[in-house]
Amino acid sequence: MKEKQRMEAKQDIIILGIETSCDETSAAVLLNGQELKSHIISSQISTHQKYGGVVPEIASREHCVHISQVVNEALKQAGLQFDNLSAIAVTYGPGLVGSLLVGVSFAKALAYAAGIPLIAVNHLEGHVYANYLEHKNLEFPLLALLASGGHTNLIIFKGHLDYEVIGSTRDDAAGEAFDKIARALGFGYPGGPNIQKAAVGGNKTAFDFPRAMLEPGSLDFSFSGLKSSVLNTLNSARMKGESLNSSDLAASFQAAVVDVLVQKTLKALDRFPAKTFALAGGVAANSNLREALQKELNLREVRFVYPSPVYCTDNGAMIALAGYYRYLKQDFALWKLNAIPGLSL
Ligand code: KG4
Ligand code: ZN
Repeated sequence: MKEKQRMEAKQDIIILGIETSCDETSAAVLLNGQELKSHIISSQISTHQKYGGVVPEIASREHCVHISQVVNEALKQAGLQFDNLSAIAVTYGPGLVGSLLVGVSFAKALAYAAGIPLIAVNHLEGHVYANYLEHKNLEFPLLALLASGGHTNLIIFKGHLDYEVIGSTRDDAAGEAFDKIARALGFGYPGGPNIQKAAVGGNKTAFDFPRAMLEPGSLDFSFSGLKSSVLNTLNSARMKGESLNSSDLAASFQAAVVDVLVQKTLKALDRFPAKTFALAGGVAANSNLREALQKELNLREVRFVYPSPVYCTDNGAMIALAGYYRYLKQDFALWKLNAIPGLSL
């Protein structure tokens, strides 16, 4: 009976996704690329909060402590065992090397022991694929704006896993700028959600911060000038003994980031007409950004999608989904798979 159930289950494509690139230990079980059977996220935010940011060595150690429990819980909630799985998908980069190695080694050992394929997933592809968790039939060409803690990219997808990067940040990523300004304003980690909260009720025109558009036609980003401008404003006020309204500062800073992201997206859509526009990465959780994009995209014939906040930040479900599309291509990793901290798209 058990054997029969196993054979039946084997007809389905069941992917276990594992994510440990930064400070979330997460695992999810996905059935046929459609149905999330379980999703567990163990966040380390409270551990890192007292240091004002992620401490890499502590992050690796925390993954080491929690990974077995997170994976077991994901399987238990899905009502499955290792031998029901079709493959194990794991993030192998980009991210913190120690954190990535925990996930990669764990996934490798499990896949080897279960005799099933191992799938190497690029974390950044995972963020874009988070959109497929809740939205079906997304048509190509699909333009994606990925804005996370380490990356800001515009990517045009012609088909599944068939894409070209058309814009990248030349310095700070959008999320990184949020985190650095939050720290300077004393809001702490994680910066993005704290800035968004502080900006509520603030005057977004109180400070005229720069919006770097770069050379005409460029789809690249630069946030370091904006970051310096906010820090200079804060420092010169401090030197004069003046106090500034932090809600106004947060609102003005956020408006500058949102303006740049929206303007670059519209430019990209002019050059690369797309049927779908997908927002992805931690900054996609920002409601001001979503609203500003929605307003502009309502005027165009483009379907606009973004993940629920839980799927914007790091999670195992998006890794399982990106892994599912690699599985369909039979694109499996070798047992010598290593973590690649600087992996790009
Ligand atoms: O995608 P993610 O979870 O991790 C990386 O792969 O980097 O993104 C984390 C980033 C952090 O910089 C965080 O401050 C930012 O996403 N973030 C936000 C919001 N929620 C998270 N930024 C702006 N507004 C938010 N609501
Ligand atoms: Zn991420």
